[in-house]
Amino acid sequence: MRWIVLEDARAVDARTLSLLCGQLAEKPDSAIGYPTGASVSGLYREMQRACAEGALDLTRSWAFQLDDYLGLPLSHPQRFAHMLREQLFYPCGVPEAHIRQFGENPGFSEADGRAYDAAIRARGGLDLLLLGIGANGHVGFNEPGASFAAGTHRVALSRGMRLGAAGAFGSVEAVPRYAATMGLASILEAKKLVLLAMGSAKADAIAAMLTQPPSPDCPASALTAHGDLTVLLDREAAARLPGGIE
Ligand code: GLP
Repeated sequence: MRWIVLEDARAVDARTLSLLCGQLAEKPDSAIGYPTGASVSGLYREMQRACAEGALDLTRSWAFQLDDYLGLPLSHPQRFAHMLREQLFYPCGVPEAHIRQFGENPGFSEADGRAYDAAIRARGGLDLLLLGIGANGHVGFNEPGASFAAGTHRVALSRGMRLGAAGAFGSVEAVPRYAATMGLASILEAKKLVLLAMGSAKADAIAAMLTQPPSPDCPASALTAHGDLTVLLDREAAARLPGGIE
């Protein structure tokens, strides 16, 4: 595991883009896992630009969603599937047949979860999985208390998670009650993990993840057991870590 503290969010985006360009240059048909959210929105704009300029080529790559709400049409603006298509997959020309996402059925079953993990393994596993982190240490929709041994599964969203999303949906009642997420064990199967965190709201979660023993209280701490985890931070997110800026 390594963590790298960079000047600001733009520097985090630039470093992540460079890692991705290297990965895709080495293996053009890489399988990549993608989160959604503020931590990656700047990166996805940079990836669009790099694709337009020919510095990054995703046209032979495979794309897997990290997580998403269930029970909404795939075209709903708050579906992560929709956001990823608009922000990244369409502009960068990822072929439709190469995109694996969670469906519209709110009754995502254990068999559906196993099928999702099997689809990843059928591609030889994720070559690189991008991740964000929640202020309480959640990863994907693996909230505090989540099992480190879980594969992809359905979760009932906590009141706190739904309140956090209420702004985007207009009201807490409009926020779906269920989501699907790669489990922590599925995440740990990826060959490379790259976690991005920016801003002071993430500082406590990052300190708990990187300086405390792994605990279900901080789901992201499960990732520190991975042999190839890179955590890219801006100064604010790294404020409670020992050591300085790169
Ligand atoms: C959300 C998502 C995660 C995301 C995380 C951080 O709830 N379920 O996939 O990585 O929280 O989001 P953000 O980057 O917007 O802070």
